[in-house]
Amino acid sequence: MAARYNRGLLLGAVLLGFLKASSTFEVIDDSGKTCILANFSVQFIVEYSTSTKSETQTISLPPDAHVLKNESSCGKGKEVSQILAVGFGHGHSILLTFEKTSSSYAVSTLKFSYNLSDTSVFPNATGGEKEASNATDIKAALNTRYRCLNKNTISMANVTVLFSNVTLEAYLTRNTFSGNETICFEDRATTVPPATTSHIPTTTSLAPSPSTKDPDVGHYNVSGSHGICLLASMGLQVNITYSTKNETINSQVFNFPQNPSYSGSCDNNTVTLNLISGSTSLRFQFVQNASTDKYFLQGLSMNTSLPSEAKGNKISAGNNSLSALKATIGKSYRCVAEENVWISENASVNIFNVQVQAFKIPGDKFGSVEECQLDENNMLIPIIVGAALAGLVLIVLIAYLIGRKRSHAGYQTI
Ligand SMILES: *[C@@H]1O[C@H](CO)[C@@H](O)[C@H](O)[C@H]1NC(C)=O
Ligand SMILES: *[C@@H]1O[C@H](CO)[C@@H](O)[C@H](O)[C@H]1NC(C)=O
Ligand SMILES: *[C@@H]1O[C@H](CO)[C@@H](O)[C@H](O)[C@H]1NC(C)=O
Ligand SMILES: *[C@@H]1O[C@H](CO)[C@@H](O)[C@H](O)[C@H]1NC(C)=O
Ligand SMILES: *[C@@H]1O[C@H](CO)[C@@H](O)[C@H](O)[C@H]1NC(C)=O
Ligand SMILES: *[C@@H]1O[C@H](CO)[C@@H](O)[C@H](O)[C@H]1NC(C)=O
Ligand SMILES: *[C@@H]1O[C@H](CO)[C@@H](O)[C@H](O)[C@H]1NC(C)=O
Ligand SMILES: *[C@@H]1O[C@H](CO)[C@@H](O)[C@H](O)[C@H]1NC(C)=O
Ligand SMILES: *[C@@H]1O[C@H](CO)[C@@H](O)[C@H](O)[C@H]1NC(C)=O
Ligand SMILES: *[C@@H]1O[C@H](CO)[C@@H](O)[C@H](O)[C@H]1NC(C)=O
Ligand SMILES: *[C@@H]1O[C@H](CO)[C@@H](O)[C@H](O)[C@H]1NC(C)=O
Ligand SMILES: *[C@@H]1O[C@H](CO)[C@@H](O)[C@H](O)[C@H]1NC(C)=O
Repeated sequence: MAARYNRGLLLGAVLLGFLKASSTFEVIDDSGKTCILANFSVQFIVEYSTSTKSETQTISLPPDAHVLKNESSCGKGKEVSQILAVGFGHGHSILLTFEKTSSSYAVSTLKFSYNLSDTSVFPNATGGEKEASNATDIKAALNTRYRCLNKNTISMANVTVLFSNVTLEAYLTRNTFSGNETICFEDRATTVPPATTSHIPTTTSLAPSPSTKDPDVGHYNVSGSHGICLLASMGLQVNITYSTKNETINSQVFNFPQNPSYSGSCDNNTVTLNLISGSTSLRFQFVQNASTDKYFLQGLSMNTSLPSEAKGNKISAGNNSLSALKATIGKSYRCVAEENVWISENASVNIFNVQVQAFKIPGDKFGSVEECQLDENNMLIPIIVGAALAGLVLIVLIAYLIGRKRSHAGYQTI
């Protein structure tokens, strides 16, 4: 009886050990602090060639998967990226590189290394050790755990990586998962359809998800042969609307990151700024009108990928007849209030806290400011209140002076 009980316990312990090994990974720094915790299922679909043909093999993370301590990192000194490396089998591994900003962290790259010499996994394969990598859209607000139960697909050359049942957090401060959660888009889309947004599931925390917060302000400058032709600082938010596979219409709003890669060009009549981050790109085109002495944003186009629930997999939209961000040549345009730039029925860009100047930029810095109408309207109220107060003070003062004079006059006559 006791023996059977013990065997049950042992079996339980072994199973628990397997479950733990196969799904929860922890990276610990030299001082014993946990910096990354991750729990996920992952499958790899690998295309490879044998001497005669090409094969496809699907592998899941086996129970022997374990953190590779020497390749994982909590970030040392100036190095702020953190790395989770998980090895399994005969020379296979997956490496997640985390990067953070002041408000969020993200898996900037995912690398999968596999060993085609391991014929127990890749029967009859030719070729030895291989590597594939790509960027991911795994991103969460700092001090929240990232959750994604739905499948998240990352495509690489010859490899497709499918994550599911993911809970992870990097840049941990308290050795354990945060009580707050950032839910991935795939999960949000299925648990919170737009028609019922008020029914926020009880598992959702109140943590600000990256897309509901105002975007961080990025700074851009573009130079041509005559020096700088564009200076801009602005926060950007992308809003796309798409139809889903089951014929509903959904919107997705997300913040464009603060430090995208960017490029641009200057010529006599147009100034262009291209921003690229992950699968999203934005192209701004400014023109100037010599007869009115004004420049403005005339063209804005966008390309981005759609979430998995959408019918297509990407969206491209452009509008070349805008008249936004308009100011006098040689001066800068500024708007603190949010501005919505309509591109098409399916796409728009919200611009926050913008200051921009295109074409002539004397001294390579912003010239005098022309404030947008929205800001002027917002400023009008304090000005009116201020003027009214000043008027009141003046009236009181005059009344007092008149009063004083009268009483003086009174004394003199006595
Ligand atoms: C990790 O995932 C497994 C399976 O989904 C679950 O049983 C386990 O409780 C999770 N562990 C943590 C620490 O969340
Ligand atoms: C992808 O696989 C093909 C054959 O299946 C091979 O020729 C090619 O080199 C592989 N590409 C990479 C980047 O591994
Ligand atoms: C990490 O250690 C494993 C064996 O434990 C070794 O095979 C691998 O080459 C090491 N990697 C690095 C980058 O040192
Ligand atoms: C790749 O697999 C072969 C065969 O199993 C093994 O001999 C070799 O050590 C593996 N390579 C690595 C880096 O583990
Ligand atoms: C590997 O190749 C041998 C002969 O070339 C063949 O008989 C066998 O079926 C192949 N195995 C697989 C899994 O394709
Ligand atoms: C990397 O991911 C992007 C976006 O998902 C995709 O368009 C691109 O084809 C991927 N790269 C490779 C080499 O598969
Ligand atoms: C995710 O976890 C749930 C519950 O543990 C399980 O039923 C489901 O099969 C898992 N999905 C995948 C793709 O592993
Ligand atoms: C969740 O976030 C809120 C606001 O940022 C914070 O006040 C609260 O302490 C957090 N809760 C936990 C459990 O971390
Ligand atoms: C233009 O951008 C570069 C790189 O971001 C920066 O080093 C430089 O100071 C900027 N120039 C101006 C005039 O803002
Ligand atoms: C996004 O676009 C949709 C459709 O044009 C609109 O109803 C919604 O208010 C927009 N949301 C934001 C935050 O701009
Ligand atoms: C759309 O499909 C998802 C799963 O594919 C389902 O959960 C959801 O209820 C469907 N919505 C509608 C309105 O049919
Ligand atoms: C641009 O302007 C300069 C001087 O203002 C002129 O020399 C040049 O030919 C112009 N370039 C084009 C393409 O119009």
